[in-house]
Amino acid sequence: MSFRRLAPADEQPARFAFSEGNRKLVDRWIAKYPPGRQRSAVIAALWIGQEQEGWVTQRMIEEVARILDMPVMRVLEVATFYTMFNLVPVGEHLVQVCTTTPCWLRGSDEVVAACRKHIEPRPNVVSADGKFSWTEVECLGACVNAPMMQIGKDYYEDLDGAATERILEALRRGETPNPGPQDGRHSSEPAGGALTLTDPKLYEGGYSHPANSGVSDDDAKRPTAAGSERAAPVQKPPGAAS
Ligand code: FES
Repeated sequence: MSFRRLAPADEQPARFAFSEGNRKLVDRWIAKYPPGRQRSAVIAALWIGQEQEGWVTQRMIEEVARILDMPVMRVLEVATFYTMFNLVPVGEHLVQVCTTTPCWLRGSDEVVAACRKHIEPRPNVVSADGKFSWTEVECLGACVNAPMMQIGKDYYEDLDGAATERILEALRRGETPNPGPQDGRHSSEPAGGALTLTDPKLYEGGYSHPANSGVSDDDAKRPTAAGSERAAPVQKPPGAAS
């Protein structure tokens, strides 16, 4: 599913350098670890590089290896293992469509079809206008609002084909569609609204605790009748014959 190879040589930029601010950020991450353990900052350094360039280039991997004093192969292993690192150029808007089982069962095929239609038939390829690229990803942790996709840092949830197309068209026009559920429900409440704890009396002082209902404390604590013999076993002293 994931595209985990470096981009071909003819797509790789000739050089990479962290901006001054980002280099300071990398140094700050290195300083979080004990002396000699600077390699622990490899994920942070790659992430900072990706935030700067949009994707992880071969020269970036080499530069991170140089700064952290580790073999290039080790950095390459990290970059190719974690799917959060983009190994090929991405569009201005990177659309990550979750196609793991819960999203798939709830219709992620429609979301993928909308991406193929509005962005590019192939995943991991930048659209002709440079505005989009899309990719399939594993669970993004919003299964309760499946199917969903992440665009940039926003989650768009409860999607279908039409909603996906609407969002992509809006982004193409330069608008910022509202993230979150697209079917009108609030957060991850049940479709149709909240169904439990909706009695206003619960919140307006109208709720009557058994202590105030005329039931004595002893009665309130008395066990109710067991539903079955199994639920009310006869207690016997230790050692008594069964
Ligand atoms: S399966 Fe899609 S968010 Fe979890």
